[in-house]
Amino acid sequence: MDSYDLVIRGGTCATPNGIAPADVGIKYGRIQAIGPLGHAKAAAVFEAKGLHVLPGVIDSQVHFREPGNEHKEDLESGSRAAVLGGVTAVFEMPNTHPPTTSRAAIDDKLARAANRMHCDYAFYVGATPANVGALSLLERLPGVCGVKAFLGSSTGTLLLDHEDAILAALKGGTRRLAVHSEDEARLRERRNLAARGDVRTHPVWRDVEAARASTERVLRLARKAGRRLHVLHVTTAEELPLLMDARDLATVETTPQHLTLAAPDCYERLGTYAQMNPPIREPHHRDALWKAVREGLVDVIGSDHAPHARAEKEKIYPDTPSGMPGVQTLVTVLLDHVHAGRLTLERFVDLTSTAASRIFGIAGKGRIAVGYDADFTVVDLNARRRIENAWIASKCAWTPFDGMETTGWPVATIIRGQTIMRDGTMVAAASGRPLRFVETLSST
Ligand code: DOR
Repeated sequence: MDSYDLVIRGGTCATPNGIAPADVGIKYGRIQAIGPLGHAKAAAVFEAKGLHVLPGVIDSQVHFREPGNEHKEDLESGSRAAVLGGVTAVFEMPNTHPPTTSRAAIDDKLARAANRMHCDYAFYVGATPANVGALSLLERLPGVCGVKAFLGSSTGTLLLDHEDAILAALKGGTRRLAVHSEDEARLRERRNLAARGDVRTHPVWRDVEAARASTERVLRLARKAGRRLHVLHVTTAEELPLLMDARDLATVETTPQHLTLAAPDCYERLGTYAQMNPPIREPHHRDALWKAVREGLVDVIGSDHAPHARAEKEKIYPDTPSGMPGVQTLVTVLLDHVHAGRLTLERFVDLTSTAASRIFGIAGKGRIAVGYDADFTVVDLNARRRIENAWIASKCAWTPFDGMETTGWPVATIIRGQTIMRDGTMVAAASGRPLRFVETLSST
């Protein structure tokens, strides 16, 4: 008889065949069998009756602040928040201090992550005018998911705004290049429109045209260079037709907060806690993003987890930093949209796991299939609870969703066959590992 290290028994499982009852047998951290395994020998059994067993959620945009701003977050606390929220792997952003722009900085992050991160991880390399010549080497280092370019400045010092430099970055590499798309020249011109003490002017300063013009330009340059793009946190209705005309070239991300919150309500309710870049905008942009999700134009949902301390957020706008945490609330906020009928569970699985794997070529993750890593986000679609600041493990200890009741909660986070979170409690020591990518397997 077959024997397994772990059998997840009695759950409803999201496999490439659809969502249906199935047991999953796991051995050596990989999925070994899918089907009725009621009589199989198992060293451990996870009773999943009444639960849904989904491919491990991959959050492909988080800022964990280490090194340099560990008072906001660090790799340990950020990844603890991730697994408490049902996330099994993250891509971490390069706008740390110092920024992740060199081999030494990547090595440093990998050394800090070892034995401290609770989920699996990869790091982005930041593009700067000074390192464009080195990007083709840097993007292929082990543990690296790709290059990120800030086309408009946001938190931190990273910026790549001149056309020549953007084109050089696009030509200097082959993996999918991720961009923060806001036009720096326009942001500078309009800076005076950010009215002191009035965060409602944030989307006036960083307006629709700043996003549209930047996305138009970077798509044009990417086409010229023949380079694949990933446009992070798209926020405007106006960018969507441009992206629709570039499906061969560009993939699209949006965030739970841009799908859930809207101006002016979010600014009136949350003040500068709702301030982020690119901004939360009026309801018609949110509606357009939902349409883009339904029609398949949005490929991926990432949280853009960007924690800042309360004391920083409580300064006077625009001295306040942009960004909000989200890695811990990503799953429940999106499952609540599933519950409300705005998203199917199949679409949730693709947007939060399979698509990241497909787009970035993550080796052995993103689906429940034999031979794949045994990463699971186990959820209770009927659990109803209130999101509360007290639950947030992130060092910032707040969430823009405080007080919101959601239906659909993660109940376990399983990574490579090991249960890391169960019923809201951490149950294993930190054992996250670097992700591997099909385009750079030889370097891992
Ligand atoms: O709001 C944001 N915060 N947008 C970004 O692009 C960066 C992020 C951060 O790191 O705080």
